[in-house]
Amino acid sequence: MPKLRIAVLASGSGSNLQAIIDRSVAGGLDAEIVLVISNNPDAGALTRAKQAGIRQMCIDHRQFASRSEFDRAVVAELQAAGAELIVLAGFMRIISDIFLAAFPDRIINIHPALLPAFPGLHVHRKALDYGARFSGCTVHFVDGGVDTGPIIIQAAVPILEADTEDSLAARILEQEHKIYPQAIQWFAEGRISIEERRVKVRGIVPASGAQISPALEMAE
Ligand code: GRF
Repeated sequence: MPKLRIAVLASGSGSNLQAIIDRSVAGGLDAEIVLVISNNPDAGALTRAKQAGIRQMCIDHRQFASRSEFDRAVVAELQAAGAELIVLAGFMRIISDIFLAAFPDRIINIHPALLPAFPGLHVHRKALDYGARFSGCTVHFVDGGVDTGPIIIQAAVPILEADTEDSLAARILEQEHKIYPQAIQWFAEGRISIEERRVKVRGIVPASGAQISPALEMAE
């Protein structure tokens, strides 16, 4: 079976990109990263791609007169590279209809909260301020909204009394690095379908039990 051709779009440090690269090097992914694009010339993601011998390019949004011109340029590169799945990993640009029309149901994103709680930016701050007992991360398909698309997989992470934005972000990031490669692998295996807004993954092992935070002290 030929590997799924994926492109990764990232604006920042690229630790999720690295997790995908590592999985693929370890032979655990039926996907090949054919292109990494960043809108930020200083993105660590570009360096990581270079070091891994993956084709990479910066398309700086500031060089374009409008959002749609930028989007058309990015989509043209993705199509030329033959990308079959677009993986957003900390890509800080809003995905427009131009993207969605070019890759329907073929764009996925990772968000560092348990959606639909805390969409948008500064999510760790929002979860702490809210007093939530859990946050986590979500891999979802991208639709026209902000972090609203059908959910593929989530990891729940307890929020601790002593947590700061940084400590919570670090524990959530660890889980991101596990669930993103898994979601890509399911897609590569052709096991994912979307029914209404529910994602079905063929043959998965259902999660069992519940996590309670803080832990119960009463005997059950
Ligand atoms: C991650 O927390 C991801 O969930 C969010 O942006 C961050 C990107 O981190 N969308 P990295 O660049 O992959 O390290």
